[in-house]
Amino acid sequence: MRKTVSSGILVLLTVSVLLGGSMPAAGLELLVKPYLNYPTTDSIVVRWETDVPASSLVRWGGAVPLEETTAAEGAHTLHEVTLDGLESGAPYFYQVVSRDDAGNEMESEVYTFGTAMEGDAAFGFVVFCDTQSNPEALRRLVEFAYAQRPAFTLIGGDLVSDGREKDHWTGHFFPNMEPLNTRVPVVPILGNHENNAQHFYDYFTLPDPEYRYRFDYGNLSVFLLDSQRPFRETSEDYRWLDKELARSKATWKIVMMHKPPYSSDENDYGDTANTRSGMGDLNARRLVPLYEKYGVDIVWNGHIHTYERTWPLMNGKAVSPKKGVLYMVTGGGGGGLENAAPVRTPLLAKVYRGHHYCYVQVNGKSLRIEAHDLDNRIFDWVELNK
Ligand SMILES: [Fe+2]
Ligand SMILES: [Fe+2]
Repeated sequence: MRKTVSSGILVLLTVSVLLGGSMPAAGLELLVKPYLNYPTTDSIVVRWETDVPASSLVRWGGAVPLEETTAAEGAHTLHEVTLDGLESGAPYFYQVVSRDDAGNEMESEVYTFGTAMEGDAAFGFVVFCDTQSNPEALRRLVEFAYAQRPAFTLIGGDLVSDGREKDHWTGHFFPNMEPLNTRVPVVPILGNHENNAQHFYDYFTLPDPEYRYRFDYGNLSVFLLDSQRPFRETSEDYRWLDKELARSKATWKIVMMHKPPYSSDENDYGDTANTRSGMGDLNARRLVPLYEKYGVDIVWNGHIHTYERTWPLMNGKAVSPKKGVLYMVTGGGGGGLENAAPVRTPLLAKVYRGHHYCYVQVNGKSLRIEAHDLDNRIFDWVELNK
């Protein structure tokens, strides 16, 4: 970040110090570096946060020097500028600029982003959940994830340990997601640890109501839901998902929510040292008939701080890959690790205890998921074909 202070302010500061007064805070620092939300084929949202209210301007273009500018009105600490009229699947360069009432000006570095691909174009993306604690593990995973040059980052909840605590966002999530967030759009959904806090809604620009939305990229649609909400058949969320899946023409349909409808976990769904397990979240399981009816390919979850890939399932039973729904738990973004139940469940194709992320490659009718550990080694993979 380069910071410039107007000469008028410098004179005032100098006079103040010469007169023996304490130096006032200069103000206008970046609290959160620029990050990217909700890319479409012709637009993207640029966000950043400053410590004092200031103007919002983005310089951008297809090359440096940046020739275009887009501004938002008013003075804000949480900045939000939508760039549109962009070319699909193309690289862009951008820089944010803010100026406060006192004349301080702040310019970020120049960063990059890509817009969404169209149709059957091939692309890759990364998946994290439960990035909530353990900054060291998260930073390692993020570095490896960015090295894949993903098109976007899916994050399935528990981004932070307590969503009501502002410093969990400014001191943990955003800084430790560097350099991914400044260059790759983040596509998040709430977990239980966000506590449905206003900070989630303030920090992210997502389609309303933000706790439930669809994200399209190429031939893929992702349906994101807050698993803290009720999913009985008459619920708003059930009816929304029913309608959205019915009208989806996407080749690949992924549902992402925090809590898993199926899990071989040790103690979240019954203490497996002493009793049998319910094998998953029963509220989340209420949506399974919709997945099976509309041919959802993958249901992506976290909450359990471990990795699990189920067999392709129909009604909780393993079936052939072309018929079933794959359930993934990718809860290894940084939370304290958990174990699988001592006895193998009928769901379980692969479990792994360790911090990790997933890298997904989509090429037309083929989709490959790789799970990477803290040393970036692949410990599991699966390929789906249509
Ligand atoms: Fe968690
Ligand atoms: Fe959780």
